[in-house]
Amino acid sequence: MREATSLRLVVGVSGGIAAYKAVGVIRAFVQDGHEVQVIATPSAYEFVGKATLEAISRQPVFDSLYDDVSQVRHVELGQNADAVVIAPATAHTLASLTAGLAPDLLGNAVLARRGPLVVAPAMHTEMWTNAATVHNISVLRTRGVIIVDPATGPLTGQDSGVGRMAEVHSIVAATYAAVGSRVHDLAGVRILITGGGTREYLDPVRFIGNASSGRQAVALAEAARVRGATVRFIAGFMDVDVPSGISVTRVESAEQMHGAVRAELDSSDVLIMAAAVADYRAKQVSDNKLKKLTLGSSPSIELTENADILADAARHSRCLAIGFAAETTSDDDELIALARQKAAAKGAAAIVANRVGPDLGIGTLENSVVIVAADGRELGRAQGNKLFVAQGILDAIVQLRG
Ligand code: CTP
Repeated sequence: MREATSLRLVVGVSGGIAAYKAVGVIRAFVQDGHEVQVIATPSAYEFVGKATLEAISRQPVFDSLYDDVSQVRHVELGQNADAVVIAPATAHTLASLTAGLAPDLLGNAVLARRGPLVVAPAMHTEMWTNAATVHNISVLRTRGVIIVDPATGPLTGQDSGVGRMAEVHSIVAATYAAVGSRVHDLAGVRILITGGGTREYLDPVRFIGNASSGRQAVALAEAARVRGATVRFIAGFMDVDVPSGISVTRVESAEQMHGAVRAELDSSDVLIMAAAVADYRAKQVSDNKLKKLTLGSSPSIELTENADILADAARHSRCLAIGFAAETTSDDDELIALARQKAAAKGAAAIVANRVGPDLGIGTLENSVVIVAADGRELGRAQGNKLFVAQGILDAIVQLRG
């Protein structure tokens, strides 16, 4: 495993009383050897002085869209950051982020960023629990933004409740987890990722599909890119967008996905089959819409097996082939045994065994995985936000590449 590299971080400070605590966050990053560029929103200076932020970050603080315009700073800051961290994020900042607004330098840097966004909200309990804020937080989470939830305790006035900005160590830990501490350990590695679900049409309007959202695959793509990999993505049907800047091939059926994977295999070092590929398709696809009248009351659909993309890639290419296995078992030993069997059956280098259930795995924001090598060795475990889980999976890939 390579040594941790120093990160380039943008820390956005917005205008709330917790802005004084941002100083602690900046200090922690600097002490860990990272380069911190502070961006203050106009109201941040109501709570913390520019001189303090500059002294602690050891860099000039930027706050205006219109300084040094020739350097296109509003785009460059976000593009070059390994992560953007907003601490504190006020209710107003959350609303602005949700709407994708760019009224100031921070808003622009967020929109132009390539790495993860970590947000530490701080506000009064009533504002945090207000339906508008709850909605904004949920939208941001859906987009993969890492929210470091506020803590409960005394607030600015006499009152006490949830809303205090999370402790410095929690914000720092969330940032390192989001970025991955081994930042450029995938530099130059060509990773092909499939994500989302396939659709197997029965007729022009009906299909057999699945609930895969594509979130874990997108998180893998984002994390791999931050760690220096060249990422190409083959997308089935997904609830989320592939981040701009990642080359995407769109497919519908398992057969099309197979073709797209084959076309890229020779120029890839690693294949991650995170897509939920249908094991079967209709033996015959009707050109016309199937009619209830003709089908009767208990119709049956004849299915035929799809080729196994992962097995094919594992056997016929030099790619390190990584698969997923969605399992409902809660028994750990059984989960690992199933993953091992699947890796052997498909010839995969490793299987990411994915616990699925009502609140876990497919279609949800969180995941819980055990990564098992073909020889049954446990390479790692990760649970939580899909970006965090993605880092764990990439750690295992780095380990396998040796
Ligand atoms: N996969 C594939 N080609 C297929 C089917 C699946 O490449 N035609 C890949 C998936 O992308 C995933 C892994 O194989 O990486 C999942 O294997 P699969 O046998 O489909 O497992 P489950 O979907 O978990 O199904 P089951 O346990 O029911 O066999």
